[in-house]
Amino acid sequence: MPTWAEVVFLLCAVGFILALKGLSGPKTARVGNLIGAGAAVVACIVPFFYADLDNIALILVAIAVGSVVGAVGAQRVQMTQMPQMVALFNGVGGGAAALVALLELEHFVAADDAGLDVPVAYLVATAFTILVGAVSFSGSVITFAKLQELMTSRPVVFPGLPIVFGAGILGALVLAGLVVGSPTMWAGIVLALVGLALGVLLVLPVGGADVPIVISLLNAFTGLTVAAGGYVLQNTVLLVAGTLVGASGTFLTLLMAGAMGRSVANILFGALRGGSTLGAGEASDRPVRSAGPEDIAILLGYADKVIIVPGYGLAVAQAQHTLRELVEVLQERGTEVDYAIHPVAGRMPGHMNVLLAEAQVPYEQLKEMDDINGEFKQTDVVLVVGANDVVNPAARTTPSAPIYGMPILDVDDAKQVIFLKRSMRPGFAGIENELLFEPTTTLLFGDAKDSLSKLLAAVKAL
Ligand code: TAP
Repeated sequence: MPTWAEVVFLLCAVGFILALKGLSGPKTARVGNLIGAGAAVVACIVPFFYADLDNIALILVAIAVGSVVGAVGAQRVQMTQMPQMVALFNGVGGGAAALVALLELEHFVAADDAGLDVPVAYLVATAFTILVGAVSFSGSVITFAKLQELMTSRPVVFPGLPIVFGAGILGALVLAGLVVGSPTMWAGIVLALVGLALGVLLVLPVGGADVPIVISLLNAFTGLTVAAGGYVLQNTVLLVAGTLVGASGTFLTLLMAGAMGRSVANILFGALRGGSTLGAGEASDRPVRSAGPEDIAILLGYADKVIIVPGYGLAVAQAQHTLRELVEVLQERGTEVDYAIHPVAGRMPGHMNVLLAEAQVPYEQLKEMDDINGEFKQTDVVLVVGANDVVNPAARTTPSAPIYGMPILDVDDAKQVIFLKRSMRPGFAGIENELLFEPTTTLLFGDAKDSLSKLLAAVKAL
């Protein structure tokens, strides 16, 4: 590779690092994203200028098809469907890395047959990329199917699954040993097939609420395979980019699991042990106190301090703009209003920040859980908009609950709590929320956008 290409690749790697830095804050995220995308485009173009490429027409057609599918898909996807979109893109990355490693294996097999020495480290990295890339591909396809509701989002287990999974891992290790010891194409292909089966078996037992964490884990897997692929191909930019994706995916997985008070092992294998990764639960028929928009407008309109707790339902209803308008009207009346952001509210990291930023809510009004939890005691009214699990006291009190141990927003400390939701169905963890039945709680039933529009009109009329 010429020196100029090495230098450009180094600049691309710096671009990826700057992109990650930018993505770590809402104000700089857009710029960070653009820098990362720009660096990726440059890294893809460079080989056309120095490498002696075959099949250029085919490569260009593949790039064109991929670009069109990616751009149209990203334009059309709803914010609530973002995790499955990420899953699909990630899976394609893992699958591509496995295919590239299979092609490299073909070269190594030819070299081995010709009596040439192939470094063991290359063969280890190739076997790793084939196996983990295949796991990442099929696992991501199953996470996509679960989140897109193409299949049940409940944990899928069958008798003997742990034994089949264990046998699969053993088989994969033997095949990887064959690829390294005496490389043949059939061992590589069977290794890829076993990897595909392992990916399916890994994700099937994971319940819907935990799927986004598994996506992040598979993302880390893809990063590691790309890094290993970069090593085999002697390509620095792949090595650096893969390592960054692997490291950031691993951190994100650990942070999300920590924010939910769970270990990654419990998320992956909880269902196998008869544990607590639940899917959707039943609606309760116990009596609750509900009220109309006019009564709730009076509670809100005459409060000194209000805290808004947004959740997944706000995203489903796309009610963020109406919510911002309501908050502005309350602020004009002299009410102090803040938004309390739980780290796993919604269905992806930063979901609420992105949603509220889209509605031009100033960042200063968004307060992280640890910063705002002490303020609920002095709060007159908490307005919970489409959130449930992130305010469920069962996380503190019920050891058998799937969310037990997850830090929550201490909404139950406030004088009054208002829930905007459509029914008595539970949140994603599938468990009842005792807070709904407290005497200080009032429910306003209906779609959040509709309820917020009525509340807005009623507060304006006060
Ligand atoms: P949830 O607990 O899922 O509750 C959402 C609530 O919104 C439900 O009570 C639902 O009740 C209501 N809702 C749905 N559509 C609505 C609409 N159109 N209008 C009004 N209400 C609506 O959400 P949460 O409190 O944000 O908690 C997030 C959950 O996802 C947690 O369990 C978390 O662990 C899990 N999770 C999050 C992440 C990340 S990174 N954010 C990752 C993995 C898992 P109705 O159906 O009665 O309306």
